[in-house]
Amino acid sequence: MLGHLPIHSFTHSPIDSSAKVGHETEAGAARGGGTVTFGLVFALCCPMKYYKLTAALLVAASAAHAAPPTPGQLIYQKNCARCHGRDGRLGLNGAHDLTKSNLNAFGRTYLVTNGMGKMPSFQKTLTPAQVAQVVAYSQTLK
Ligand code: HEC
Repeated sequence: MLGHLPIHSFTHSPIDSSAKVGHETEAGAARGGGTVTFGLVFALCCPMKYYKLTAALLVAASAAHAAPPTPGQLIYQKNCARCHGRDGRLGLNGAHDLTKSNLNAFGRTYLVTNGMGKMPSFQKTLTPAQVAQVVAYSQTLK
């Protein structure tokens, strides 16, 4: 029932160094905390027959949490979408279709860090942690 807690501690980690991203997750974590407290208080003081309702409310609350974009997605939209498109298929400036890429995380990390051909290097723009986040997100584009 409290399965979404670890997600919050993850998105709240200090590797979110961009101010915008930090702000987003701050709000998410605050909401998450409120929901859990509410759920626990409710569960402790209510008779058995309300447990299902409590569970349903908590599930609905966690589903709402899935909506905000992940840090990797925000980095992607800001730095990569202008050539690769939001869905990875745009192919502007000779960019490769990311949904068809066979490159693994290691290769992508190298490419994003150092650039290649018309693809710029992001070494000065993104921290290694942000590169890892955007690479992980790029692998979800299928
Ligand atoms: C200015 C346009 C541009 C931007 C911005 C850009 N790319 Fe690229 N990308 C390219 C081009 C061009 C290639 C093809 C490079 C080559 O092989 O010569 C490419 C190739 C790639 C590939 C390799 C795909 C394959 O299998 O061949 C990956 C992965 C990739 N980009 C990820 C990203 C990510 C992640 C970002 C954002 C951090 C990004 N790109 C930003 C233009 C861009």
